[in-house]
Amino acid sequence: MEDKEKKYLLLERQVASLIDGETNAIGIMANVAALLHHEMGWWWTGFYLVDGDELHLGPFQGPVACFTIKRGRGVCGTAWAEGRTVVVPDVELFPGHIACSDRSRSEIVVPMRDSGGNVFAVLDIDSRELATFDHIDARYLEAIVAQVAKAIKD
Ligand code: SME
Repeated sequence: MEDKEKKYLLLERQVASLIDGETNAIGIMANVAALLHHEMGWWWTGFYLVDGDELHLGPFQGPVACFTIKRGRGVCGTAWAEGRTVVVPDVELFPGHIACSDRSRSEIVVPMRDSGGNVFAVLDIDSRELATFDHIDARYLEAIVAQVAKAIKD
């Protein structure tokens, strides 16, 4: 097993105990962003929340970021519109990438769904290095996002 997988297995347990019994949605997203960001050493880690046909900035860790992203725009808007995790090894090669920070080089965005399957938020993570994220990150982050969604929406 890769070191990264071991870290994620631990993170999954940390997230579960962090949010156990909590119902405050903003607090849950804020603390999960803080946990992921500081354990993994990413550049930007946070949530964008669906509001009409836009994503609005939610709880995050890292430098200041764009407030609003239209559906279908950028990596976040694409992950939302297509309802799938988007892994971007080099942000300069992603058409329409929205550069909130010029230090960001690679990115992953994971949609967060309610129990009806509707995307109500996305988890967005940026790295200062190229090709930080792959199918392993996608798999574990999808599991973590599902835990968070259940805590917020159930
Ligand atoms: N790069 C994102 C915008 C959000 S920031 O990275 C925090 C995008 O293209 O959707």
